Amino acid sequence: MNVLVIGSGGREHAICRTFSKSSRVTRLFCANGNAGIAQVAECVPVRPDDIFALADFATLNAIDLTFVGGETSLALGVVDEFEARGLKIIGPCKEAARLEASKSFAKDFMARHGVPTAKFTTSHSPAFAILELESGDFGDENSPVVVKADGLAAGKGVVVAKNRTEAVGAIKEMADLVGTAAAEKIVLEECMFGREVSLLMFADGEDFALMPPTRDHKRIGEGDTGPNTGGMGTFTDSSLLTTDELQIIKDTMIRPTLHGCIREGFRFRGIMFLGIMMTAQGPKLLEYNVRFGDPETQAILVRLETDLFDICAAMLDGTLSSIDIKWKPGSSACVVLASEAYPQKPRTGDVINGLENVSGVEVFHAGTSKDEAGNYITSGGRVLGVTATGDDLSAALSTAYSAVAKISFEGMQFRRDIGK
Ligand code: AMP
Ligand code: GLY
Repeated sequence: MNVLVIGSGGREHAICRTFSKSSRVTRLFCANGNAGIAQVAECVPVRPDDIFALADFATLNAIDLTFVGGETSLALGVVDEFEARGLKIIGPCKEAARLEASKSFAKDFMARHGVPTAKFTTSHSPAFAILELESGDFGDENSPVVVKADGLAAGKGVVVAKNRTEAVGAIKEMADLVGTAAAEKIVLEECMFGREVSLLMFADGEDFALMPPTRDHKRIGEGDTGPNTGGMGTFTDSSLLTTDELQIIKDTMIRPTLHGCIREGFRFRGIMFLGIMMTAQGPKLLEYNVRFGDPETQAILVRLETDLFDICAAMLDGTLSSIDIKWKPGSSACVVLASEAYPQKPRTGDVINGLENVSGVEVFHAGTSKDEAGNYITSGGRVLGVTATGDDLSAALSTAYSAVAKISFEGMQFRRDIGK
């Protein structure tokens, strides 16, 4: 079978690596890939946002299955375009992708289907958002409140403001921060407190199969300090959610969401990613993502024992409930190595040393390329994701950090407290 993966980050390296181990996959392509992905797939220069060129490529190269990595292609309707041409593709259709592409759509959807979430309101202009704040619905001037841009903003569209003054500042700056289109509407939300957990699943429209729960570390600095990033590290560990908590999440979030999609006239087929806050009042949904997380995927897929191609085939056939997906027992951890001055102004072009000395882990490449001498060099903010499994979390972390100690590049940043 010929498989095409769309994307170019650490997530897509992990997806390609997993497909490369499938006995069903004969040729693997990635549009557009990176230097690490080129070790396992043929990288082709088609941009993930050029959905027509992607479909042309899939047709010309007799691609049997396409797997979409990121949200941009999904929000543009890559799945609708492929399906209209009779091409098989894993990912939600454009309508379902609104669960991530529009925060106001997602919040209204949660309200329509009774999915527990933070109290919210949507405003159509910054001035109205400020009036909403002053109405007192989100507490007094000392209450924390969360300000969100409606559209896709590559992780920059959310500000957790400590008080009303900060929230007003965030509302005024939102358009500058994320672009006018993404900030066309502004969602204000009650601030929730608790542990955060990410729960991902395969979904075939009606049924779902859960992946191991994960936690992301979003801030650049240890102890969760400094600016938000795309994610500095993740781990999977069964202790993140108890059986009872999982049951509540299935009953109050997952089933209502999948059925809600059907009731609204579309189906959710693809990877669903729930960002959950475990509050004193029980689990509440922070957000939907409609794709694998980065770097959650790296930590999840190293534990997948079932052939990913077979899982995809079952998702397309609507027979997900008939396959038993196996995960390696224990835990896993992914430590991200980022370039100097990430996330503000990442420096690129530094030679990466020590990759050849590393064993017993998977090193997923995010922002790498090769120089003329054939050295791997940095080419983005997040550079590598060093990923290990272990019988328990401390074993996985210790293996990952031992490998990290062997890798270096000028200005390399990483957090020493992943999984702590
Ligand atoms: P989102 O992209 O909506 O998940 O938001 C990014 C991050 O902002 C989340 O992972 C949370 O840490 C934080 N966040 C979002 N919404 C809330 C909320 N209502 N209360 C507290 N923190 C939030
Ligand atoms: N790591 C968070 C995300 O992929 O959205």
